[in-house]
Amino acid sequence: LGINRECSSKPKPPTPKRPLRSSKWFNCQDDPGMTALYMERYFNYGITREELMSGMPIIGIAQSGSDIAPCNRHHIELAKRVREGIRTAGGIAIEFPTHPIQETSRRPTATLDRNLAYLGLVEVMTGYFLDGIVLLTGCDKTTPAFLMAAASVNIPAICMNVGPMLNGYSEASLCGSGSVIWKSRELYAAGEIDEKEFMDYVSHGTPSVGHCNTMGTASTMNALAEALGMALPGSAAIPAPYRQRGQCAYETGKQIVEMVESDRKPSDLMTREAFENAIVVNAAIGGSTNAPIHINAIAKHMGIEISMDDWDEIGAQIPLLLNMQPAGEFLGEDYYRAGGLPAIMAELFDAGKLHPNSMTCNGCTIYENTNGKHSWNRSVIRPFQEPLLKEAGFIHLKGTLFDSAIMKICAVSPQFRQRYLSDPNDPDAFEGSVAVFDGPEDYHRRIESMAEIDDRTILVMRGVGPLGYPGAAEVVNMHPPGRLLKQGIDALFCIGDGRQSGTSACPSILNATPEAAAGGNLAILQDGDRLRIDLPKRRVDILINDDEIKRRRQELESNGGYPLYPSSTPWQEIFRQETEQLGDGMVLRKAIKYQRLAQQ
Ligand code: FES
Ligand code: MG
Repeated sequence: LGINRECSSKPKPPTPKRPLRSSKWFNCQDDPGMTALYMERYFNYGITREELMSGMPIIGIAQSGSDIAPCNRHHIELAKRVREGIRTAGGIAIEFPTHPIQETSRRPTATLDRNLAYLGLVEVMTGYFLDGIVLLTGCDKTTPAFLMAAASVNIPAICMNVGPMLNGYSEASLCGSGSVIWKSRELYAAGEIDEKEFMDYVSHGTPSVGHCNTMGTASTMNALAEALGMALPGSAAIPAPYRQRGQCAYETGKQIVEMVESDRKPSDLMTREAFENAIVVNAAIGGSTNAPIHINAIAKHMGIEISMDDWDEIGAQIPLLLNMQPAGEFLGEDYYRAGGLPAIMAELFDAGKLHPNSMTCNGCTIYENTNGKHSWNRSVIRPFQEPLLKEAGFIHLKGTLFDSAIMKICAVSPQFRQRYLSDPNDPDAFEGSVAVFDGPEDYHRRIESMAEIDDRTILVMRGVGPLGYPGAAEVVNMHPPGRLLKQGIDALFCIGDGRQSGTSACPSILNATPEAAAGGNLAILQDGDRLRIDLPKRRVDILINDDEIKRRRQELESNGGYPLYPSSTPWQEIFRQETEQLGDGMVLRKAIKYQRLAQQ
């Protein structure tokens, strides 16, 4: 269960010494006055001139943990071991805080913060004297925000995940963080638990320091960081409180110094092939529906175009190998003990599904890092030939309701498939009428009183995309009204222009682009309209005629378009002006042209 810093296959060549980036600050040959200015304030806590002029690599530690960000708070401890690793390898550690991103408590939504933390980190990485950087990642958006910045700046960079929480239990059964909230909400809505039981049950999902112990967005994005070669092999899945997590922090500190010496940069690791590997891995682990938004954004900042069609073409046919909630049963500790990501990748390599030659942070290829590391626990990590599900990736849907939306097929329960997708006359398509909600508040206000909702209703949530709910809310996972839940109807098709928590197993069609507020046809839907969902043909169509669609669009436009809440902070206004749609990675349009900043 160790992490791996070295592959034995080839000896490392000695690396030639070259002037480091930091020498432009601390060794200004023709202007000692500037060297003095840049240097003197760092003396005030005890760094010496000798150290700063020694030519030792100066390594930033991007600290994302704080009291306001509990998922990542354990990094305050772990950073000490990172520092010791850096110093042991002959570097100088400079720790600094990043803009906090806490998924669960940020209003209106933590998605607003991904691009803001990205901007802040780009400024620190370009404006200061860092030769390399350790990115302390964890909770959902911290990982993509930091990888986007590493892609834009392109100095040697390595991720170190905080690690998942220990397994949660309620009596003898596993309680996954995040997932337990969605489940408890249903029990509460059905009147099966009271408020105190609700809170007790939810707290079982949070047993220790660390991020969500389910395969939500945090576990997903850190697995993909490892698949991209941006984290030490075997590191992403180590639970936060385990001793191996502290050891990993130390090894990560040592590794970044070697990366600076070897000048191994994000552009050497995050190639088109590496992104394709990430798409395959995401399917095999039953990864979060937020992954395409974030991976496409990181790729864009790297100057590589990954489309939503790529996710379907490369990922949709990949089987589900990891038996972890929400797609399966187990939690983070089981995943780690079963071998973590290297064990998943070993299966995928055997099946010829991955590019073997992608370089990784430790100077070995991804194949060298993972070859033969098969799991010894086949109830948690399945062999490729005996998967949990044959096709686990995302399908990319188009049609007259939107240009682009995705669905995580592996989260759809067999009962749901049986109930809605096995009509003998047309086994593939489903038709139903819609109940349309303008945001989560409207849903909560009306859902229980809508007598017209039955087991054929499609729940639609609009006004929750990047513009509508600035940042795009994780609210598309809607449960049926209590009276249907009591009859055993635990899920209806959901469609929305927002996101869904990676910890949810709701059968939702998400990230609809363009959103209602950007002129998408979700804006013209009315309660009772009929839709046709044809998953094999990858289509969702509105069953109303073209003239009526045109008439409604004209009426909407003459009324000034889909109504928007006013922005309530300066950043919300800037975000809305500058940010693309979910299907395009939700990046800041103007940021994309700034690439390889450290090389300019
Ligand atoms: Fe932070 Fe899940 S809420 S990792
Ligand atoms: Mg989330």
